[in-house]
Amino acid sequence: MPEINVSVEDSTDTEAIRAVVTAAFGRSDEADLVDVLRESSAYCSNISLVAHLDGDIVGYVMFAEVTLDKALEKEALVLAPLAVDPDYQRTGVGSRLVRVGLEIARGAGYELVFLHGDPDYYERFGFTSAIDAGFDNPFDMPDEGFQVCDLTGGTLGDVAGTLTYPEPFRT
Ligand SMILES: CC(C)(COP(=O)(O)OP(=O)(O)OC[C@H]1O[C@@H](n2cnc3c(N)ncnc32)[C@H](O)[C@@H]1OP(=O)(O)O)[C@@H](O)C(=O)NCCC(=O)NCCS
Repeated sequence: MPEINVSVEDSTDTEAIRAVVTAAFGRSDEADLVDVLRESSAYCSNISLVAHLDGDIVGYVMFAEVTLDKALEKEALVLAPLAVDPDYQRTGVGSRLVRVGLEIARGAGYELVFLHGDPDYYERFGFTSAIDAGFDNPFDMPDEGFQVCDLTGGTLGDVAGTLTYPEPFRT
């Protein structure tokens, strides 16, 4: 199995990222969201990651900043989207992107990472129910998928409330 290399995206990757995200989701909505988020103040250039395999981009993950109404000082992120080229799914690419992204986020001082996704997939990275932790689900999406990862191991329990996602998520 060739090695998966993960790096920060650069401007020459944009079209390949669009192709991967569109192929993974089978539509262009999420790729459009990526392009808009990249231009927004929520964008984190140091945690927008591409996975390369044999020189091709086969996966992508973006983390963007969110705010918490009752804890504005807390540094929090949303992980979205995570996308892997269908030809390379279930080969560890997505896991690698999530793990590297969470490490960079922790090192950069972020405390919490939220997402909406399949708990069966995300629990392996340390995500647990955000509802159980006391957060309000900001979207009309199933509560079961609303999850949070505590990067410090000591932030949950200390903070709850409502998230404000970056504007592109709300339009
Ligand atoms: C979901 C996705 C990102 C996972 O990436 P991936 O590279 O295929 O996943 P990995 O190879 O890292 O998977 C590791 C494990 O997760 C499991 N897994 C993969 N996709 C899963 C899913 N959707 N639900 C539950 N488990 C999943 C695999 O079976 C594997 O399990 P194992 O270690 O027990 O064998 C990828 O399938 C994808 O791009 N899907 C379409 C877009 C999407 O749904 N993105 C997520 C939005 S929240």
